Amino acid sequence: METGLFPGYRGERRNLRMATPVVLAHKVWHHIGTWLNKRRVRLCATWDAFAGLGVDAVVASQTLQTCVFATEKDRHTYTLLCDNIRRHGANVVARYTDAFQDPFRVDLIYLDPPWEDTFCPTKPFDFFGKFRALLMFMQNWGRFVVIKTPLLLGPTKPPWDPVYAYRSEKYRIIVWLFDTSPLADAGSVGPLESIDEQDGTNQHGQGDPHVGQMTAE
Ligand SMILES: C[S@@+](CC[C@H](N)C(=O)[O-])C[C@H]1O[C@@H](n2cnc3c(N)ncnc32)[C@H](O)[C@@H]1O
Repeated sequence: METGLFPGYRGERRNLRMATPVVLAHKVWHHIGTWLNKRRVRLCATWDAFAGLGVDAVVASQTLQTCVFATEKDRHTYTLLCDNIRRHGANVVARYTDAFQDPFRVDLIYLDPPWEDTFCPTKPFDFFGKFRALLMFMQNWGRFVVIKTPLLLGPTKPPWDPVYAYRSEKYRIIVWLFDTSPLADAGSVGPLESIDEQDGTNQHGQGDPHVGQMTAE
């Protein structure tokens, strides 16, 4: 998939800043898909609540072979999103709406919200408050919740225990996977795994001790 095939991906600074790089989207959904496959989890429906240009929605629909509902509340971005879905012939249904007003009940929810205010040094911003509030709201709408955050947390524990996390130093992000079912045991998924971006070696036993399983690139 070419980056240039996503209108709005190039040329418009506003959209360029917020869109997930296509290469990153492929890595993220490959790792999440592998984790789910190993546990024989099949997804019928996925919801990308903050869809933007739809890079994640399109790649997720192709990688996980799932129908994706995509909500976007900015009119201009929504137009570009629809264009992108059409161009890729993706199994994505877009809706111009506010995610919190119009939620979908699905198997997996993907959250890539704008975190911009996090970086504003003059305004205090409650990062964990937002993280927690998102998770609390979304747990009512899907068993699995995937949240993409900037790489701000360092070794800090997220509000809940994820079952898996994908970390990219290159793109400065962490993608957290939560299993909100009451039976889920975040601590029982095996040894931590860290794949170093530079030399590609496996380093078992390293990474965030709070994360059930961690892949880092
Ligand atoms: C970081 S971008 C998502 C990028 C996306 N993952 C992609 O691949 O293009 C966040 C998007 O969420 C949208 N958004 C923010 N609040 C929203 C809400 N309450 N409901 C729906 N969309 C929202 C913004 O307009 C923005 O397009």
